[in-house]
Amino acid sequence: MNKATSLKLQHNIALKHLNTFGINVIARDFVEITAEEELPAMLTLINTYSGPVMFLGGGSNVLFVQDYDGLIIKISLRGINIVHQDDEEVYVRGMAGENWDHFVQFCVNNHYGGLENLSLIPGNVGTSPIQNIGAYGVEVKDTFYKLEAICLRTGAFREFFASDCAFGYRDSVFKNELKGRYLILAVVFKLHKHPVLNTSYGAITSELQRMNLNPSVKNIALCVSAIRRSKLPDPEELGNAGSFFKNPVINSEHAEELKARYPQLPVYPAGNGVKIAAGWLIEQCGLKGFRKGDAGVHQKQALVLVNYGNASGNDILAIAKLVKDEVLKKFNVMLHPEVNIIE
Ligand code: FAD
Ligand code: EPU
Repeated sequence: MNKATSLKLQHNIALKHLNTFGINVIARDFVEITAEEELPAMLTLINTYSGPVMFLGGGSNVLFVQDYDGLIIKISLRGINIVHQDDEEVYVRGMAGENWDHFVQFCVNNHYGGLENLSLIPGNVGTSPIQNIGAYGVEVKDTFYKLEAICLRTGAFREFFASDCAFGYRDSVFKNELKGRYLILAVVFKLHKHPVLNTSYGAITSELQRMNLNPSVKNIALCVSAIRRSKLPDPEELGNAGSFFKNPVINSEHAEELKARYPQLPVYPAGNGVKIAAGWLIEQCGLKGFRKGDAGVHQKQALVLVNYGNASGNDILAIAKLVKDEVLKKFNVMLHPEVNIIE
């Protein structure tokens, strides 16, 4: 049988195990893409489908608020290959459905430097450029070379280089004017065989010392993974989607005024403005560890909202609203969600 006609459309599929928040909702229709040969049939399905359509990767940056009365397309295209290398650099390509940390550890184990600070972030390779994932002083944009995508309307193949992506803090063109218009198929990273290591984030240096390790690509990956395990809840044990809100960027006058009132406030330079730590603001509002029913604010990291078991998307949104209102009242700072809310 021609693979192009072999899409397996399923109905009334439970999504609880397909989103890291563990929200128990049902998708009206569901299809999983595992081979590129299925893409023509997928495009036909999208263009003839009546109702909303969304892609799903690892489900680690979404909050479903209700059953999804539409079509979910889970992207499970896998594979890692080296597209080009010389004595200095290596271009490594990951297919969209490849698990992000698996991809990072492939690079780390081969001593290709550049992604080690991004170890242990959940999700998939294809999603990584959408919000320009970042952690411990590094963002995807720092080693991004290009991505391969198809336009959902025309079916045309297109490559996007960094200059096409408008990368910003947890932001890219794919969250703005091109939102929902392309399927990302693969991403190519330009990595280094003789990397300059990034230990600028203080916690990495102290963790290297604590673990008695020299700085290296592999050891940074180990340290970052250890730090993350100590702070962030494992979605297998406690539903969450990482930071629920972005760290807000405010103007320097406002930052100075806050800093005068709250000298402990963590601040970071951010272009013309100042980025401030939302987790700190939430903790100062007395909400760290707050729980109502099965929804709450994580006990160790106030920027992470959690599902203790059977919270609904609306239960999580109610906590998010409380957090947002309290931070606005106390600090006059508006928080914006990082998580994609699917209503
Ligand atoms: P999903 O949640 O499946 O999808 C996210 C969005 O992308 C959706 O709108 C979806 O429709 C769209 N999409 C998915 N695949 C495709 C595709 N192939 N083409 C086009 N659109 C697509 N993020 C950070 O930046 N830094 C962190 O340190 C970090 N830590 C985290 C820690 C925890 C414990 C958790 C649970 C999350 C964390 N995150 C972090 C957030 C999350 O891991 C990232 O946003 C990740 O990139 C999401 O990938 P995903 O495949 O799970 O995306
Ligand atoms: N803080 C508190 N209380 C808290 C949480 C944090 O006071 O409950 C303070 C910390 O003490 C620290 C500052 O806030 O001084 C920053 O905290 P942390 O280093 O834990 O990082 P973050 O700003 O809360 C960001 C990212 C994370 C990323 C880490 C490490 C955002 C929205 N979040 O968190 O990304 O892993 O830095 O680089 O930028 C994600 O995007 O999902 C995510 C987890």
